[in-house]
Amino acid sequence: MHNSTRWHVCEDAAAVATEAARRILAAAETAIAARGVFRIVLAGGRTPLRTYRLLSRATADWTSWHLYFSDERCLPPDHDGRNSRATALAWLDRVPIPAPNIHPIPAELGAEAAAAAYRHPVSTALPFDLVTLGMGEDGHTASLFPGQVHPVAELTHPIHGAPKPPPDRVSLSARALSDARAIMILATGAEKKGPLVAWRAGEPLPVAGIGGTGGVDVLIDRDANEALIPYRL
Ligand code: 6PG
Repeated sequence: MHNSTRWHVCEDAAAVATEAARRILAAAETAIAARGVFRIVLAGGRTPLRTYRLLSRATADWTSWHLYFSDERCLPPDHDGRNSRATALAWLDRVPIPAPNIHPIPAELGAEAAAAAYRHPVSTALPFDLVTLGMGEDGHTASLFPGQVHPVAELTHPIHGAPKPPPDRVSLSARALSDARAIMILATGAEKKGPLVAWRAGEPLPVAGIGGTGGVDVLIDRDANEALIPYRL
């Protein structure tokens, strides 16, 4: 676990989403003011969807945003199980981000071809301004699962045999996900309490292997929180 991991406890999942949206919009303003562009990696799964729905109603300099994905399932682009489709329905179809600025992982090509195709866009985006991630009940993040070993120098990995269906995926690597000015991890619900306790206890979970120079901000709700962390937000 990176010692610069900052834990933020919010009342509930809605409060986590509100705080996450606030942080994303603030990071965008800072990046655009400094460099004219905001490069963000979007978390997959269900947890961030509340945040994405809040962003769909926000005002921002959308034409300066460039969106990447932490991981993608090897499914057709219009499949409901695709992170890119869930994100589009919740947010991206409702704001004027130019289509060329949205960089989906072409996971429909298959894990190896898609991972290879995504290396160039990722390499030209580093360092990301903000990486957002979720965490699974086994401590996975993106599609980096416990017990799976990958070449550390890779920017993207083909994933097979994922314990969370579908088995074939593409993931940004710990190296790519850590090459960021800021990293924010969202975890809500009682089912995330176990991996959070393990993470805090120093277990080498995949989520614990993500950490950049700016540290990691972890936003959790009270249901996911062990009593170890006082309720602050
Ligand atoms: C995915 C996600 C995955 C997700 C965690 C948490 O493609 O499934 O990238 O890493 O973030 O599994 O998922 P929930 O937010 O749905 O609990």
